[in-house]
Amino acid sequence: MGLLLLFTFSFTLLAVTSTVNSCPPADRAALLAFKSSLQEPYLGIFNSWTGSDCCNNWYGISCDPTTGRVADINLRGESEDPIFVKAGRSGFMTGSISPEICKLDRLTTLIVADWKGLSGEIPSCVSSLPNLRILDLIGNKISGEIPADIGNLQRLTVLNVADNLISGEIPASIVNLKSLMHLDLRNNRISGEIPSDFGKLGMLSRALLSRNQLTGTIPTSISNLNRLADLDLSVNRISGSIPAQLGTMRVLSALNLGSNLISGTIPSSLLSNKGIDILNLSRNSIEGYIPDVFWSKSYFTALDLSYNNLRGSVPKSLSSAAYIGHLDLGYNHLCGAIPAGSPFDHLEASSFTNNDCLCGMPLQSC
Ligand SMILES: *[C@@H]1O[C@H](CO)[C@@H](O)[C@H](O)[C@H]1NC(C)=O
Repeated sequence: MGLLLLFTFSFTLLAVTSTVNSCPPADRAALLAFKSSLQEPYLGIFNSWTGSDCCNNWYGISCDPTTGRVADINLRGESEDPIFVKAGRSGFMTGSISPEICKLDRLTTLIVADWKGLSGEIPSCVSSLPNLRILDLIGNKISGEIPADIGNLQRLTVLNVADNLISGEIPASIVNLKSLMHLDLRNNRISGEIPSDFGKLGMLSRALLSRNQLTGTIPTSISNLNRLADLDLSVNRISGSIPAQLGTMRVLSALNLGSNLISGTIPSSLLSNKGIDILNLSRNSIEGYIPDVFWSKSYFTALDLSYNNLRGSVPKSLSSAAYIGHLDLGYNHLCGAIPAGSPFDHLEASSFTNNDCLCGMPLQSC
């Protein structure tokens, strides 16, 4: 009797486990439609996508253990996975992302990254996937625009479409992504302005927008982002002056505004801020004096102010900085004696090259 009970119990458990793990036919059909618009000729990652149970041993697919629904698509073309090691190469894939994936309405992760040849557009229906947390399509040839309704994705923490051919503007709705922590749009063809209410993205810690065609000014609201550690707007066409409020941000540690059309002067708050340790304002039209506000808590692994219209002298207070790793003041209109002191001991002449009349170590004596 006891044995029978135990047997019945295990049998029930087995039945429950297997229903939980088996893939709903509709999810399986959506995955097969997704696969049918892709060609991956070298590794054969899709060879594992056979049989009825898409939750079991389908390469890159995992399911939610409680609902049994497909939760993650994780396909990376750069990987240490044995399938890549064995083939001795990184991944290459052509084709496009089928809108059929939007039928996977419990999807939390969509990673189709670094396949180099993937083209087509981001299906606009991804903005209707309520559980989506990670959208990572870096390193393909995806064109078209970021879906206008992307801001619907209230759980999205990572939006990475870097290194593609995305055009159009940053959608206004992006500021509604209240969970967004990591935004990477680098190296695309995105134009237009950064939304003025960008500072609504309260969870944002990295905003990487470099190498696009962005215009307009740096929104002052960015300074409200209390978790923002890394802001990279370099190599765009951003104009106007640098909001002084950026120097009051709590955790900002890397600020790269290089290669833009920025004018005005350097806010002293940016140089006296003790958290910013990489500051790149190179290749702009910044003018005026370098504020003489360095102090014992100034710590810069890189401070690049080269290729601007700075004049006056190298600030004396720089010699009281705790650390200056890489300094570049070249190609400005600075003049006068370079201060002496510990941060200057290891600097080379190239840090000061092509100014109007600088002198003293490491240049010729005054
Ligand atoms: C600063 O930005 C400029 C322009 O984008 C770039 O050429 C330079 O290498 C950067 N400097 C450092 C120290 O990374």
